[in-house]
Amino acid sequence: MLTASLRLNTRTPVAPVNPRLFGSFVEHMGRAVYTGIFEPGHETADARGFRSDVADLVRELGVSIVRYPGGNFVSGFKWEDSVGPVDERPVRLDAAWHSIETNRVGIHEFAAWAASAGVEVMQAVNLGTRGVAEAAELLEYCNIPRGTALSDARRANGADEPFDIRVWCLGNEMDGPWQIGHKTADEYGRLAAETARLMRFVDPRIELVAAGSSNAEMPTFGSWERTVLTHTAGLVDHISVHAYYEELDGDADSFLASAVGLDRYLDEVAQIIDEVRAEAGIERPIGISVDEWNVWYQTRFNEVDKEPLLTGEWNEAPRLIEDEYGVTDAVVVGSLLNSLLRHGNRVSMANLAQLVNVIAPIRSEPGGPAWRQTTFHPFERTARFARGEILEVDVSGAPVVETQKYGAVPVVDAAATRDGDDVVLFLVNRSTTDVLALSVEIPDVAGLALVDAETLTVPDGLDRHASNTATEPARVGLVRLAGVEVSSESGAAAAGSAAVSATLPALSWSIIRLAATAAAETLPAATSASSSAASPSDSSDATTSSLGDTRA
Ligand code: AHR
Repeated sequence: MLTASLRLNTRTPVAPVNPRLFGSFVEHMGRAVYTGIFEPGHETADARGFRSDVADLVRELGVSIVRYPGGNFVSGFKWEDSVGPVDERPVRLDAAWHSIETNRVGIHEFAAWAASAGVEVMQAVNLGTRGVAEAAELLEYCNIPRGTALSDARRANGADEPFDIRVWCLGNEMDGPWQIGHKTADEYGRLAAETARLMRFVDPRIELVAAGSSNAEMPTFGSWERTVLTHTAGLVDHISVHAYYEELDGDADSFLASAVGLDRYLDEVAQIIDEVRAEAGIERPIGISVDEWNVWYQTRFNEVDKEPLLTGEWNEAPRLIEDEYGVTDAVVVGSLLNSLLRHGNRVSMANLAQLVNVIAPIRSEPGGPAWRQTTFHPFERTARFARGEILEVDVSGAPVVETQKYGAVPVVDAAATRDGDDVVLFLVNRSTTDVLALSVEIPDVAGLALVDAETLTVPDGLDRHASNTATEPARVGLVRLAGVEVSSESGAAAAGSAAVSATLPALSWSIIRLAATAAAETLPAATSASSSAASPSDSSDATTSSLGDTRA
């Protein structure tokens, strides 16, 4: 058994938790839209044709903001095709994904879906085949209340009130040679700056996202950001980071250390932002919009799946990158969320790519069920319980795992938040073989007791690749975590301290929720919970609480 001691810094929080860290992404590709969120004729479809079983899962997932409509798709998108009477909309070739785009879902339909799902829209404009004018025209169409040709066209098309979209992406992955209208950093930087300038004239309230690198391994990474920001700093509010991770050649240790890779990537981009702003004397802050991140078995897609999919017939809603996620993938997603929290002072937005069917936490079958992938669970719990302020967690004393890709990394990956007297720990045990006995010191807190502790790990009798499927949708989920103990020293002083001890299963993502003893209650959360109430506050100076558990 491994052991580790962690300590929370409760004195200097990293940043408030920004709900926009829990965004997602719906692209017009594969079955994200058609037979994903939208399937007229499905037994759960609403009057507009949107699946309410999928919308229910989106709400449950706790997504705050959804990027739309691409992705690579947006670089060939004519937004005018997607408004007006549905029967009159043109059917187009989507060259990015070798698909047929019917435009049955467009700007209006997506805005209505987003409103009903309770999510904010983050709209991308096409800077691949189009430019400054078309971006500004789309903005006028969406955000100007009335009295101009385009705002009145929107009203005539059924939306009397403006969509009032605040966050706009200036193109997508323009550094990538695969991108329609791919550009050099100077070409893109100039175009993004001029587009930003005109869009701000049209609606000064908007936030703009410049496109950063497609991944940290791009040969232009670093110089791309520097050049683009040199053109756009002062005009944009965010620069994007895209980050996908996968297990290669069975190297689970490197894969499980992906959050270390994301930590480094974010640190590098943050440093470039600081340097460019300092050199140019730019006051306007620039956040990092991690507007595509996830596990994606991209090598398999590029080397095996892509060829027949992207050269064969042109089809509507083909099955594209419908990755089925196992336990390991969910643990990695949990640790990537931790990395985003750790960088909550620099990351202004983050979008799990994507939301439904396409590398997604939610899957659906045409005419069939919708279900939660393994990755749904860490996202849902983190989005729901990361509240208040982000706290730094010192993991420096933990044992390390030697990895090929990132060197020696701590076996435990951790993040924490504090909302008043409520403290939540998000913990990953990266070891694929050893349980980890953990103690966590939480200084400067009033008496704390355990509210709940859950874990996602390899279910008994299955392996680390176990996944959820249409026929077995709940094979992998959260179970109550055994043996969590909280001892709390309150004494006479207002601020005492607490110590948490827990045993994290090998290869697991866990959440431990604590609250001031007076407020602590046990919520029915874990799928196989058999809990007893957390110890109520008592009059003694030291209390210990624990829960009945199901995970030994
Ligand atoms: O999310 C899938 C694709 O990944 C997006 O279209 C593109 O932006 C990225 O390369």
